[in-house]
Amino acid sequence: MPETEIRTETAVTADILDFLTGRKSVKAQLLGDPAPDDEELEALLTAAMSAPDHGAIRPWRFLSIRGDARNRLADLFEKALKLREPEADDDAVAKFRSKPLRSPLIVAVVAEITENHPKVPPVEQVVATSCAVQHLLLACEASGYGVVLLTGWPAFDDTVRAGLGFSEKDVTVGFVYIGTPTEPVRKKVRPEASKYLSSWTKPV
Ligand SMILES: Cc1cc2nc3c(=O)[nH]c(=O)nc-3n(C[C@H](O)[C@H](O)[C@H](O)COP(=O)(O)O)c2cc1C
Repeated sequence: MPETEIRTETAVTADILDFLTGRKSVKAQLLGDPAPDDEELEALLTAAMSAPDHGAIRPWRFLSIRGDARNRLADLFEKALKLREPEADDDAVAKFRSKPLRSPLIVAVVAEITENHPKVPPVEQVVATSCAVQHLLLACEASGYGVVLLTGWPAFDDTVRAGLGFSEKDVTVGFVYIGTPTEPVRKKVRPEASKYLSSWTKPV
């Protein structure tokens, strides 16, 4: 859409607010086939491109891991675990290897940091990437998929990060597990927003 064109789809309807309020993650082990194929994933990522992004840096990078690539990620997790905990027994290794195999699609997300940017510090680039992830989560859920954002120590482990091709300066935001919920998704009670809102009254 050209930037001068008037956007008409901004009306905030009750449906959209209900959708946002009802958003809920689905456990990775409750995500089965089908997952979005590459074409649909690209369409879902279109929503991530409208995330707020100071300086229009587009720091977000998405790495899709599906099919046999999940076994290679399991190999990577095993390698990292054995380096971290050389005494890990077979059960621990098997448990860890099973993690990337829980869902049909994983999207690893990293913020590719532009260092020494004159206006946008690294933390803002991570925030922009986090916003992009949330747009992806919402786009997936709006399309009928189940989704959950996970990290755990592997997300920040040097062996795993290097194996995924992330450079040292880049910041892992997490692994987005995507698939179709294998059981109905139950509603979740959320905290009252008023508990998290206050007015600034402190005198200057
Ligand atoms: C950056 C980030 C990393 C997360 N990593 C994990 C994780 O490793 N394990 C986990 O159980 N939940 C993790 N979560 C929380 C889940 O994504 C999810 O929010 C949680 O299961 C609660 O479900 P809900 O989103 O429906 O409230 C993480 C959330 C964020 C924002």
